[in-house]
Amino acid sequence: MTRFDVATVSERPDLLSEMQELGGSAWPEFLAHDETVNRWWSLLPELAPDYQFVLVERGSGVVLACANALPIVWDGRSETLPAEGIDAVLPAGIEAIRHGQSPTAASALMIVVRREVRGQGLSGACVRALREIVEAHGLASLVAPVRPIWKDRYPLIPLERYAYWRRPDGALFDPWLRVHEQAGAELVGVAPRSMCIAGTVADWERWTRMTLPETGSYVVPGALVPVEVDSERDEGVYVEPNFWMHHHCGDAPV
Ligand SMILES: CC(C)(COP(=O)(O)OP(=O)(O)OC[C@H]1O[C@@H](n2cnc3c(N)ncnc32)[C@H](O)[C@@H]1OP(=O)(O)O)[C@@H](O)C(=O)NCCC(=O)NCCS
Repeated sequence: MTRFDVATVSERPDLLSEMQELGGSAWPEFLAHDETVNRWWSLLPELAPDYQFVLVERGSGVVLACANALPIVWDGRSETLPAEGIDAVLPAGIEAIRHGQSPTAASALMIVVRREVRGQGLSGACVRALREIVEAHGLASLVAPVRPIWKDRYPLIPLERYAYWRRPDGALFDPWLRVHEQAGAELVGVAPRSMCIAGTVADWERWTRMTLPETGSYVVPGALVPVEVDSERDEGVYVEPNFWMHHHCGDAPV
């Protein structure tokens, strides 16, 4: 029997602050400094409340997981999915809503499962719930700029190789890409510049708790590729790659 209910911000606005707290709790410090995300993210609950939701445990009322997405205008072609992943789809989706454009698809943005209940299959439940929300809005496609969560263990391996690594049983190697594939998604492209985070060397030293004494490429905990530090310019830049995955809603796997 299902142990949780799905509650959107439209249905349970009272859970918004818990959702935001959980959503912000899962990331390395530096990921909180993407200027595009910081500028647009806070508009999601007001402009796309049906696409922000939590899984609430029956009985206890504990928020087990949260998910954020938004409706978008997309022509359905893999080639037009932007290289700038989240940094492109978030502002474009918000602007489309503001201008009253009819959506043709939705994009996932983030899913977080509460630490204490990870490893119990709740992330797949979130993806399935999101697909159902998208279908309920009459949309046929859900895309996702997916963060390959184990790529930080292999920061020097080229993206295009890592994405297609498979386990002996044939499933994708990366757990998060795998969850999407198991829910019926197809890997359709790379978003090499999905998030961009720039700061001074002092900022990066604070965010990473590492000393960064000279110009170079640094492997940083939680970063999927190295952070590029330029001491002369007093600048560190991290450009996070994601992978575009496409769920054809309405034909869920059996
Ligand atoms: C990524 C995340 C959502 C996964 O949620 P979860 O509920 O713990 O994951 P699940 O129990 O559904 O497991 C998903 C897959 O990962 C594997 N997995 C989960 N935890 C694992 C662990 N600690 N070690 C190895 N594999 C693990 C599971 O075996 C499963 O794969 P399989 O069923 O094909 O074998 C969760 O860890 C999380 O919130 N992380 C922080 C935020 C994040 O990275 N979100 C995703 C990007 S938006």
